[in-house]
Amino acid sequence: MKYKGKLLAGIAGLAVLATGAVAEDLTIVHGSVGRDQEVLRGQLDRFEEETGHSVTIVSMPESTSDQFGQYRLWLSAQSSDIDVYRMDVIWAPQMAQHFVDLTEPMADIIDQFVPAAVESQTVDGKLVALPLFLGAPALYYRSDLLEKHGEDVPETWQEMTDTAQKIMDAERAEGNSDMYGFVFQGAAYEGLTCNAQEWVSSYGGGRIVELDGSIGINNPKAAEALNLAASWVGGIAPEGVLNYKEEDARGVFQSGNAVFMRNWNYAYALAAGDDSPVKDTFAVTTLPDGGEGTSSAATLGGWNLGVSEYSEHKDAAIELVRYLTNYDNQKERAIVTSRPPTLMAVYEDADVAEQQEFIPLWKPVVDNALPRPSAATLRKYNEVSSTFWTAVHSTLSGDGSAEDNLARLEAELTRLRGPRW
Ligand code: GLC
Repeated sequence: MKYKGKLLAGIAGLAVLATGAVAEDLTIVHGSVGRDQEVLRGQLDRFEEETGHSVTIVSMPESTSDQFGQYRLWLSAQSSDIDVYRMDVIWAPQMAQHFVDLTEPMADIIDQFVPAAVESQTVDGKLVALPLFLGAPALYYRSDLLEKHGEDVPETWQEMTDTAQKIMDAERAEGNSDMYGFVFQGAAYEGLTCNAQEWVSSYGGGRIVELDGSIGINNPKAAEALNLAASWVGGIAPEGVLNYKEEDARGVFQSGNAVFMRNWNYAYALAAGDDSPVKDTFAVTTLPDGGEGTSSAATLGGWNLGVSEYSEHKDAAIELVRYLTNYDNQKERAIVTSRPPTLMAVYEDADVAEQQEFIPLWKPVVDNALPRPSAATLRKYNEVSSTFWTAVHSTLSGDGSAEDNLARLEAELTRLRGPRW
């Protein structure tokens, strides 16, 4: 145990702080991409300094689907090893019973949070987790290459495809043999569900499961979107995209080897960083749409902090959750990692606007982001999503047509739903 700050005396193995409170050892489990964990550690160091508690980070693999599997093991074993869990926006309905209701402890601050974010974490009136940051992806593009080749910023997926092909071919002809047109998250995991929901929805193909629980995914517009996406693999996108997660896509784009990239907000600060080869040559725009009469869709992402029902340090854990989501820490996170905040006031902060232009620029996209059907499918969401990403991954891999895979998906989802979700 390490104690910092206002340590007063030790009684029976516990450290007592000047406030009379006991210094506790907390554990937070946290996945990470980019600089997330570095910022977290800095904030935890200050928390330790201010409170005398100490906090250990348990690091998770990048994939949210892998994290979900591990969390489920800990929670079903009612493990007291973890006090605070960083949770994906989609998990609250499935994990609600394992978390402390934060309604009461956060009653004095909850009105300051983005209402939709709070709603996403509220299950049957229980506040399962407090929103830490939000996510809404962008189409990142190489403004220098578009200009060089006389191309406009694409508005539709078909335009994006054509422009990516043209620039990739021209750059390769000039000797840049590593150049690709488009990178995204094509591995078989939750990230592919996010990407594919965007393709389908922006083609007017609806949602994976509709808000009322109905299943309309087997439709010609969804098939059209997936067929176009399948044409990218091994063409404008490397074959390897079938195994790409967020950081794989960013690696290719940031090293200068892709014209376009679909990625979350965190990639902005990194691509614009001092050591980034593309720092002065990229820009962002909204994801393309399906053409006439359709509109762009950006999947709602984000992470939240929940206190385990099995924690032996619930009060200190609640204190930690309040601390990590407070104004100063959200502001720092927004500036350093370009993660959209969950406190409304941070969007209006002049320093944030000046030091991280992406945050105010992206506010309307965040506000209109498209949730995944986790509220509609409740405890079955993870299976719904894995059934969906499997059908999409097969299509991208050339294993069956979009039409056949969507027909099978519809049958599987219908079976999974049974009489109700
Ligand atoms: C991001 C999003 C999260 C999503 C994940 C998929 O981390 O914030 O909501 O599930 O990407 O890879």
